[in-house]
Amino acid sequence: MLLLGIETSCDETSAAIVSGPSDDGVQLLSNVVASQDDLHAHFGGIVPEVASRRHIEMILPVIREAMQRASVTWEDLQGIAVTNGPGLVGSLVVGVAAAKAIAQARRLPLVGIHHLEAHIYAAAIHGPLPFPLLALIASGGHSHLVLMHGHGKYDVLGRTLDDAPGEAFDKGARLLGLPYPGGPHLAALADSFPGRVEPMPRAHISNSRDFSFSGVKAALARAVRTTQPQERDRARLAAAYQESIALSLTERTLQVADEIGDSPIFVAGGVARNQRLRDLLAQRAAAAGLRVHFPDPALCTDNAAMVAAAGVHKLARAGPDPPDLDCFANIQLRSWDATTAS
Ligand code: KG4
Ligand code: ZN
Repeated sequence: MLLLGIETSCDETSAAIVSGPSDDGVQLLSNVVASQDDLHAHFGGIVPEVASRRHIEMILPVIREAMQRASVTWEDLQGIAVTNGPGLVGSLVVGVAAAKAIAQARRLPLVGIHHLEAHIYAAAIHGPLPFPLLALIASGGHSHLVLMHGHGKYDVLGRTLDDAPGEAFDKGARLLGLPYPGGPHLAALADSFPGRVEPMPRAHISNSRDFSFSGVKAALARAVRTTQPQERDRARLAAAYQESIALSLTERTLQVADEIGDSPIFVAGGVARNQRLRDLLAQRAAAAGLRVHFPDPALCTDNAAMVAAAGVHKLARAGPDPPDLDCFANIQLRSWDATTAS
C-alpha cells in the first residue's frame, strides 16, 4: 500500500509517503518537515494561534513536496493517515481537514492516528516491530511507558505525574537564558561541560512506574536564583540537570523492563534525540542484558513518516475511520480494538 501521512499536532507541518507493510517493516519514500521554530523563537514558546495559521499556509506545499520527492501522483495513493490527537486543537484541525478533503476527493480510506502511537511506530520504519516491546515515549508533551503486545495493542504502564521530560528540558533552558527551542540548546551546553557532574536531585517515587520532573526543575530554579551563574557554571548546571533527567528516564525504564521480563526497549519522542540519554540507557541496558533501540534522530521529533508508518498497519488491521473523523486536544492512547468498538 502507498500511503500519505500528515502531521500537524504542534508546530511542525509534515507530510510523508510510505509503502508497506512488508516483512521488512515500512519503506519510507519521502518525509518533509516544515519547522516553525523561527516563527516561535521570537515569542520564546509556541503561540497556538500563530502555529495554526502557519499550518494553513504550509500544509498543501508540504504535501506536494512529499509527493514529488517520492515520485507519487494522486492516482498512486491508496490511503491517508493523519494525527488526530492529542495536540493543539487549532493545529490538529488543519491536518485533519486536509486529510479528509483529499480522502473525500480521491475516495481514499482515511485513518486517524494517536500522536503517541505515531512516535512508537517511528521504529517500524527500520524493520518489523518485535512484540512484546516496552516503549518509552519521552517528548515535549508526554512521558509514557507503554507495553505493546502486538500491532495496536497497548498497555500504558507509567506516565509523568507532572512535567514531561522535553518540557523539563525547555523550562530548564529558559531558566538558563538559552534560546528557543530549549531542549537541544540545553543539551549542547550540558555536553560542552568537560568531565563528570553530580546529577541534580531526582524524584524517588517508590512502588511506582511513573515519572516526575518538577523537583529537578525547582532545584535548577533555586540554583540559578541563588548563584547567578557565569558561563562555566551554567554549563555545569546544564550538565547536572540533563544528567538527572537522563537518569530518571533510564532507571525507571529499566526497572519496568525488569518487572515485565525480557522485552526489548524502544525509545521514542523528541527527547530520544538526547545523546546523554542514548548513551546512558544503552550502557545500563547492556549491563542488564536488555536490548534497547533508538530511531534515527530525524524520526524522533514530530514528523509524518511515523504517522504514515502507523497508518499502514492500522488500515490493514483495524480498517478505515469514518469520513467525519474528528480531532481531540486530549485523548488517551487506546488499543485499536477498543477504538473501533467505541
Ligand atoms: O516529540 P516532539 O517533537 O514533540 C512532542 O510530541 O512534544 O518533542 C519535542 C521535545 C521538545 O521539548 C524538545 O526540547 C525536546 O523534544 N528535544 C530534546 C532534544 N531534541 C529535542 N530534548 C533534549 N535533548 C535533545 N537533543
Ligand atoms: Zn511528538
